[in-house]
Formats: sequence, C-alpha cells, structure tokens
Amino acid sequence: MMKNVRKNSLVLTSLSLLLSLTLSAQDQATITIDADKPGNSVAPTLHGIFFEEISHGGEGGLYAELIQNRGFEESRLPPATTLQNGFIVPERTPHFSLPNNRASDWKMRWELTSQWPAWSLRAGEGADINLALTQENPLNSATPNSLQVTIDKLDPGGKNDLLNEGFWGINTVKGDSYNLSFYTHTDNYTGPLTVTLQSADGKILATHVFKTIVGKTWKKYSCSLLATQGDPGAKFVMNFGSTGKVWLDFVSLFPAKTFKNRPNGLRADLAQYLADLKPAFVRWPGGCFVEGINIESAPNWHRSIGPIEKRVGTYSPWGYWSSDGFGYHEYLQFCEDIHADALYVFNAGVSCDFRSGTYIPDEKVDSIIYDILDGIEYAIGPATSKWGKVRAQNGHPAPFPLKYVEIGNEQSGPRFARRYNWFFAAIKKKYPQIQIMASQGIGDVNRRTLDSMKSVDLADEHAYKAANWSMRNYDHFDNYKRGNWSMYVGEYATNSGVGKGNMNAALSDAVYIMAMERNGDLVKMSSYAPLFVNVNDVDWPVNLINFDASKSFARISYYTIKLFNDNRPDQNLTTTTQFPAVTVKKPLYSGSVGLATWDTESEFKDIQVLQDGKVVYSSDFINRPSEWKGVRGEWKVKDSAFAQTAMGAQRFAWLQGKSFDTYTLKLKARKTSNATNAFIIPFAVKDDNTMLRAHIGSNVNNNSVFESVINGTNVSDLTNQKRMPAKIETGRWYDVTLEVGYDKVDCYLDGKLLMSYTEPQKFFSIAGRDQKTGDIIVKVVNATASPYKADIELKGAVKPAPMADLVTLAADSPQVENSFSEPTKYVPVHTGITGVKNSFEQVFQPYSISVLRIKDIAHKQVVAK
Ligand code: AHR
Repeated sequence: MMKNVRKNSLVLTSLSLLLSLTLSAQDQATITIDADKPGNSVAPTLHGIFFEEISHGGEGGLYAELIQNRGFEESRLPPATTLQNGFIVPERTPHFSLPNNRASDWKMRWELTSQWPAWSLRAGEGADINLALTQENPLNSATPNSLQVTIDKLDPGGKNDLLNEGFWGINTVKGDSYNLSFYTHTDNYTGPLTVTLQSADGKILATHVFKTIVGKTWKKYSCSLLATQGDPGAKFVMNFGSTGKVWLDFVSLFPAKTFKNRPNGLRADLAQYLADLKPAFVRWPGGCFVEGINIESAPNWHRSIGPIEKRVGTYSPWGYWSSDGFGYHEYLQFCEDIHADALYVFNAGVSCDFRSGTYIPDEKVDSIIYDILDGIEYAIGPATSKWGKVRAQNGHPAPFPLKYVEIGNEQSGPRFARRYNWFFAAIKKKYPQIQIMASQGIGDVNRRTLDSMKSVDLADEHAYKAANWSMRNYDHFDNYKRGNWSMYVGEYATNSGVGKGNMNAALSDAVYIMAMERNGDLVKMSSYAPLFVNVNDVDWPVNLINFDASKSFARISYYTIKLFNDNRPDQNLTTTTQFPAVTVKKPLYSGSVGLATWDTESEFKDIQVLQDGKVVYSSDFINRPSEWKGVRGEWKVKDSAFAQTAMGAQRFAWLQGKSFDTYTLKLKARKTSNATNAFIIPFAVKDDNTMLRAHIGSNVNNNSVFESVINGTNVSDLTNQKRMPAKIETGRWYDVTLEVGYDKVDCYLDGKLLMSYTEPQKFFSIAGRDQKTGDIIVKVVNATASPYKADIELKGAVKPAPMADLVTLAADSPQVENSFSEPTKYVPVHTGITGVKNSFEQVFQPYSISVLRIKDIAHKQVVAK
C-alpha cells in the first residue's frame, strides 16, 4: 500500500518546460498514467446517499405531504421532557459518557408559540368561531391530539375559514390533481364543508364540497382536488357552512403525481435528484435523528410502519416533529425503486452525546437487540417469518434490498464499543450476510473506539471540513494504518469558508472524493451530508440540494458527485502529477493589513510594514488615526495605540487604500480584557469582508490558527488548530511578526515561530480503468484562477483512440453557485477532444473539475480475444 501512496503523491521535479505565452510555469503539470501498474480497486459502492430529517428535508420536502401539522401533533412536547421558561428540558438521568453518573444540563429552545402551528382561523367580523386542541376522544392512542372547531355564529359574508399554510406554501400546479383526506366527527354540525386550494390573494384554484359532514364517531372523508389554476404558494382552506362543533384529525393532501406514483409517496422532483445520482445505497434515518435528544425520543422502525395515521412520529433533534410518514417501509421501497441497497441506522440505546446523552442501561440492551433483529427480518425475512409476513401484509411479499445496518450514530469510546460488540455478535449470528457499520463519533475514525471493537466490517468516519482542507490533506486516507476493517465515510462535506456551498466547496469535495477513490482498498463507501434543505428552515450551513415548496436546485457539489460516480473506474492506475520548478513566483497574498478581535478587547501599536528591509508603512495613531477604518467593534485611539473595546465576534479594522505583495508586518499587541480569546492579525485584506488572518489565542486562548474570512463573518480554518506554548497573558505587550511571502506566511510571537501557512497544491489528477469498456478515466481538479496545461503521458499497454470525451464542470469564480433562478448554471459540459495520443496536451479551465474518458483500443483488443 505505502508503495502506491508514494507513487501517487506530488513529486516536484526540475523539468524545464517551455513556457507558453498564456501559461506560466506555475500553471503546468505532467500527468503520467501507467496502464501496466494497476493501483487499488474502486468499490462499486463508493457513492451512496444519506437522508436525515433535518432542515425539513423530509417533512415539507422529500415526503410529498402538503399539509403541515396534519395530525395536530406538532405542539406535543417530545417524550420525557418538560417545558421550562421557553426550553424543553429532558429528564435529568445520567449521561452515557459523563463520569460519576452525571446528568447533562442540556436543554433546547422550544420555538413554538401556537398550539396548532401552520393552522389559523380566517373569520369575518360576524363570525364566532373558536379553535381548541383537545385530547378527548382521540382518533387513536398513538396520536392524542385533534382540533376542535366550535362554530357558534357564521359570518354572513361566508368568511368562516380554517387555513393551513402548508410547508411555507402549497405548490399548486394548474391541471394537476391533489388527493385530500381527513377524519372528522361532529356535534350539531350538518355541513356543508367546502375545501379549496387558494392562491395567496384568495383566488380559488381547486374546490370540492362535502355536502354533509355528520356523525358522533370518527369518519374518514376524501376527495380529489383538480387545480384549474396554479400558485406555488397556495393555502389549503376548509370553509364551514353551519354552526356546531367539528373535530378534525389527520388532514392530509398529496399530489396525485409522486415519485413512481406511489401513494403516501415522495416529491417527484426531489426524489429524481437522488435517483439520478445512481447511489449504491441509502443511509437512513440519521444522523443525530437516530440518536434523539433523549433516549425516549429516538426513532424506532416499529413505530414507523403500518397505517400512517397511527404513527406516533419522532421528534427530530433539529427542532420539529417527523410524522414518520416516510417510514421504514417507505424507505425500503424507495431503495428498491432507485436500485440502491438499504443502510439502516438504528439507535443502540444511547442518545446524542452532545444533547442529553441519556441511555438504556446495559441489562436492558437485549430488548433493543431483539427489536433490531425483528427490523432486519421485516426487511429481508421470508414472507412466512413473523415480520416478513407483516411486510407482505403491507404490500411487499418479496424481501427488500437491506444490505447494511449501522449501530448508532456518532457514538464512540470503549463503553460504546462494548455495547457495539453485543449488537455485532447478535446480528452476525442471525444475518451473517449483513454488513455492519461501526459508529466512530464525530470526526475521524476513533482509534480507542476501533481498538475496543472485536470485529468491524466498516468504520463510519464523519468529515465536515473547511475550504481547501482536502487539498492540504490529500494523503488523509493514505495515512490510515490498514487492518481488518474498511471505511465508510458516512457523512462528508466541505462546509465552512464556502458560503452556502459554492464552487470552492465543490473543488474541495472533488479532491476529497479523489482521495477516497485512490484509497479504494480502505474506503469502500461514502455519502455526502446533509442531502436536503428547505430554505425556509435551515438547520445546517451547507446542504446538497436546496428547495422550497415549488422549486429546487442542486449545488455544484451534487454535480461533482454525479460526475464522479458516472465515471467511477473499477481500478486505479498508478498516476503521478509532476510540476516544473517555479522560477518566477506570483504573490498570492496581496492586499492590505488589519487588526481584529473575537470576544475580547485588545490594543495594537507600532505597526510597520517592511519590504526589502525598508519601512514602507509606519502607524501613527495620534496624528493619522483616520488611515484605519473600523468596520466592526469599537475602535479608538488610546495613548499611542489603537484599542478595540467591544466584546463580540469579528471585530475588525484595516488600513484602507493600501496593498502590499510580499512583506514583513511587525506590531505590538496586548489583550486588555480577561475574556477568553486574544488577538487576530488580518492580512491579504481585500475589503471590509474578505481577508486571511493569523488568529493568536483562538479556541479559548489555547490555540493558534490561520483562518480565511469571506462575507465578513464566514470564517474557516486554513491550517489545523495548533496548541500555543502558553496562553496569552492579559495586559502584557507581545511582539507579533508576519512574514508574508509569495505562497507562505510565517507568524512569530515574541521572535519565536508560532505557526506557518503554505498555500496548498491546487491541481490534482488521478486515473483509473473502467474494466467493462476498457476506458481510461482521468479526473482532474484545477482549483487555481488560471488555465492549467497538462502534458498527459499514457504509459504501458495502452493505445488511445484519437477522440476522447471531456466533461468539464467549471465556474468563473470560486464564490459562485447554482440558484433558484439559475438552477443549472454550473453543470458538467461534454466536449469531444481530438489528437489524443500516448503523449498529448490538454488545457484544464480555471476553477474546474474535469473527467477525461479515453478509449483504449489495445484494451478492447485484449477483451475481444
Ligand atoms: O449531517 C448533519 C449532522 O452532522 C448529522 O445529524 C450528524 O450525524 C452530524 O454531526
């Protein structure tokens, strides 16, 4: 393995290549692909998807239900919690990972103000109508609430309406039908009840009249609503036609057209994105969702099957109820529909470590083990088995494609590993064919956890990284000591320093995927996270597919994953990327200098910029204070220093109107408050909101780190956080020096080197072979601002056809992104190239991700023999 690693790594050579007019030596590389030297194989399971109920990705998203709070259960408190001063507080029982049986003091803000969220009355002045949530005479015991509507007087103008706003609007499409159903019982109410879809300005888009609604027991009513006009933000309206009392429950509205036209189905456009990715598997249902805010609120497959109106629902840790309408059966059906295997994640009797961390004691774990074995039987047991029979009764006699299960999400440590061992043994005994994922906590594979696990099929690493992290850590997977286990990167994304997920994120994600592909002996599976965000309820900074009630767009990272999955080789070919020695360097950190703080107060003085030993700028705050622009915070001249005196994040001032290329910045800084962090020295400052910076005393005055800032407050690490030799003392002046070079910055504290940052490599390539077609697939990322010329050398037994397919996903800037208005602005573009030989040239666009598919005539001949 290590041999191969070295071959794939960056090799600097002193090749003297002729410079073309448009390309400098910095923008050239030689990619050598040795067809005779196969590397690691690439698993066909490498790309899957991970769905979680977060940011209304399911409720009001993938799950096509159009009525929000259809069962009137949304204002129900999660189990085993109480409401205290606007917070939900779980019962204080011991935390799984805290010492001495300590309970966590975690609590969560309860945002709801209405008892019937998403529902409202629209009554005219003459009406006397009242709403009440009631638990009397429930439709069933699993869903205790229903809505009582008391109509004492009708508005003569007919304004006697109960409205549901849907999930930030109901997308009503002209010509489409919608299936409505609801349960009701009445007292002295005779009808009629008119149901309509109405546009925001009250236009009737679809209507149906139930002439009589009578009866003291619950009865189901249903109809189809045909939209004669459309509105993406419509409302659902029930209009009452007589006085009396009406109780309502489970008011449900589905588009007749769902993905594969399944009843209780999925929103077609969103499901199609997933199908188009051709994922090898679907991980479900979480994520933190699996863990629950406490053990009582963790999901359970059992509760999510059977009649939908009887599903109790699961409180998502992301702050709202899942109706579980997209339950275990629907999930398995979806996997089958898109030809993916199922990866079901179950709670191992431990709730989220970062929330209450409450758990089921060891002596009761058996009951969950049996429950999980039942769940597996539901999915794959014969139709004659106890749970296979229930599956058959639910409409699916044949087994579903459940191939993997995961024990817990983001749990780690020896105590968890012991529990994992029990589950692993029991599952393998009954279902040896099931592959088992081992949770590893948040972040990299946890050695202590792994070593405490007796047997591991796949360890689940989670990787949320900053912009360019993958470029600085291209050897991340190479560095793992191989053992009797494989890796599943269950959640990954470049999600800081990239806005809401821009081209820069896609470039980093592309390099990350290439690192996984190259390490195919270790990394067998991966899934990006999170998959969906309803833009009206954003729980996570960067998500793959954005949508609202009617529109959607996939981010550039989605198209990157799709491009790489569509062009996944079976076998890596040994590839080296070589760069010529650079004689003339371009300065990468041009810009001005600044001063900043984060949650502290600090002073700065004696600021000097030196170039070639000469002082080119020297501060004089007493006589020339206006040179410095205070952008955020309170900046004032104090003695001869510039002082920042307001707490809070991102306090910032800069020397406006200056720009330096390579230079030495010297200054004195002191922290003047006892608050935690220390001081920050911005450089390469472009404007009020864009800069790089050296953060000294970050992470509660423990670390130092180089950071990048975009949009003023979007901060991401450029280097790993480095422990400081000692905390910064309050009141003491420190000498800070930044040596800003062409592509390297050194930061000194009191004359000693504190940390360094070197610009990472920005051009990457790998190659592999598709065994079926014989094609050689070359993947190239050019994350620089310039075109990059590559000399591609195909070595060994390979005879390329002169024409090849080049697919390029490029953007004009790293900051850009697809959007609702231009959803496919940045997508892969196919072009044919000619002149392909064993040695040929290809230029790769700036900010681009490319796949070159080369036909190998030699390989075809071998296959043909
Ligand atoms: O993907 C969002 C969250 O990130 C997941 O719920 C959790 O597993 C991870 O920490």
